[in-house]
Amino acid sequence: MTRIAILGGAGALGGALAGRLARAGHEIWIGSRDAEKGRAFAADLAAGAPGVRVDGGDLRTCAAQAEICVLTVPYAAHAETLAQVKDLLAGKIVVDATVPLRPPKVGTVQLPAAGSAAVEAQALLGPEARVVSALQNIGAEKLAAGQAVDGDVLVAADDAEAATTVCDLLGEIGLRAWHVGPLANSAAAEAMTSVLIQINRRYKRVQAGIRITGKSKAEAEAGGSAGVSIHPIRGLPMFAAGDDLARAIADGLTANGLAPEEGDVIVVAQKAVSKVEDRARLLAGVTPSPEGRALAAQTGKPDGLAELIVAESSELMRVRENLVITRHRLGHVAANAGIDASNVADPEGPETVLLWPQDPDASVERLRQALQARFGVRLAVIMSDSLGRAWRNGTTGTAIGVAGMRPVRDRRGESDLFGRELKVTMVAVADEIAAAASLVIGEAAEGIPAALVRGAIYDPAEDGTALELLRPLEQDLFR
Ligand SMILES: NC(=O)c1ccc[n+]([C@@H]2O[C@H](COP(=O)([O-])OP(=O)(O)OC[C@H]3O[C@@H](n4cnc5c(N)ncnc54)[C@H](OP(=O)(O)O)[C@@H]3O)[C@@H](O)[C@H]2O)c1
Repeated sequence: MTRIAILGGAGALGGALAGRLARAGHEIWIGSRDAEKGRAFAADLAAGAPGVRVDGGDLRTCAAQAEICVLTVPYAAHAETLAQVKDLLAGKIVVDATVPLRPPKVGTVQLPAAGSAAVEAQALLGPEARVVSALQNIGAEKLAAGQAVDGDVLVAADDAEAATTVCDLLGEIGLRAWHVGPLANSAAAEAMTSVLIQINRRYKRVQAGIRITGKSKAEAEAGGSAGVSIHPIRGLPMFAAGDDLARAIADGLTANGLAPEEGDVIVVAQKAVSKVEDRARLLAGVTPSPEGRALAAQTGKPDGLAELIVAESSELMRVRENLVITRHRLGHVAANAGIDASNVADPEGPETVLLWPQDPDASVERLRQALQARFGVRLAVIMSDSLGRAWRNGTTGTAIGVAGMRPVRDRRGESDLFGRELKVTMVAVADEIAAAASLVIGEAAEGIPAALVRGAIYDPAEDGTALELLRPLEQDLFR
């Protein structure tokens, strides 16, 4: 626990920060020009952070209490506020979030002559204060939302130890912070805010932020990922025809505290896509063809279902009592052409089944575009269904639609551990990711139709299709 004063803590950024820090268990002092206002704001905040001391008062009272003092006041009040508490801050870490905006031209970079507001703060407070600049590129609303924040924080300080303390503190409240060098470098973060304001205005975005991309050295040396994690997207509704699946998944990600990162893969269950794309069929409404009737007779399946299987297949590969293995019209080999009756409709109602989407690759590409637009990072999206595998028992999650990636990773030409060249190593990475995601997506009553997979290594591609996973018919040795 650290005792933290926030001067300007009753304002937009200070208030949001105070809430997060209090919920993380830190003692908070809300400093205001009006002591009563500070105390009242603190009392409201305390209600949301039981067991934690949250108090308020005038600027000097709060600065005196602080081990760390955060400054969140408008630039117009920056120098004056610091002058009031200068003698109380010697030896303390002072986190300065001030952006030297000069209204009305807040979309234009106008740094002060000293170089930055943070450098001015250090000059004003003298060398005894440990000034750390941070948070200029994080919108207050984002911080207030209490969810994962999809933006990074640049932390600049001449005192490296103080910078580390601040980075750790920000990490505790869900922010990814980077120590970016001396306090003079605060100019870049302060200037960036006007750039982000321009982006918000021009592209009608809300609270644009920045993200540091690239891999850690350990990840790069390991050939990519330092580990894979799979995150269920809980709380999604039961879907119906016409629902906005992309929006539901995006909202679900946010509600689950998941901020998609560059290269993450979203895996979505085929059933969810089929439902929103209106692929449910009432068996009673299907008129069987002679071929459908013949299949019904051979298998004992209802006429309507047999007809749908015929219509969705390019080939009936094996037919037995109650069993049909088909080549789906898209080329995938699947029982019953992928048609399923579980989790489709009320079992008490008329018999309803669900077909695969018309074009699963196109469906996931649309999802990918929408999610990328929402989160501003490059993603891949896989549609998964549980399919059986020839000569093995049990089903596994299998990719039937792919966007943003090559579903097969060609590792030919790479070396093995002993330096021998890999000759035939093609990895069905989309199937592997689909199978991994199916560990949390679940088959039965779990009701989790999508998951986020982070850290999987794959080759990004704009034109990837699940059809790349299909072995050409002329290579089929078992025919
Ligand atoms: N808002 C954001 O999204 C955001 C993001 C990154 C950085 N920042 C930076 O953080 C600082 C605070 O921003 P903010 O949006 O939180 O500001 P704000 O809500 O407008 O003001 C914060 C507080 O500053 C105090 N203040 C002191 N002197 C003032 C004066 N002369 N005029 C107005 N208020 C005065 C007020 O508290 P009392 O009345 O209680 O004294 C006020 O509640 C700014 O430097 C801003 O550039 C903001």
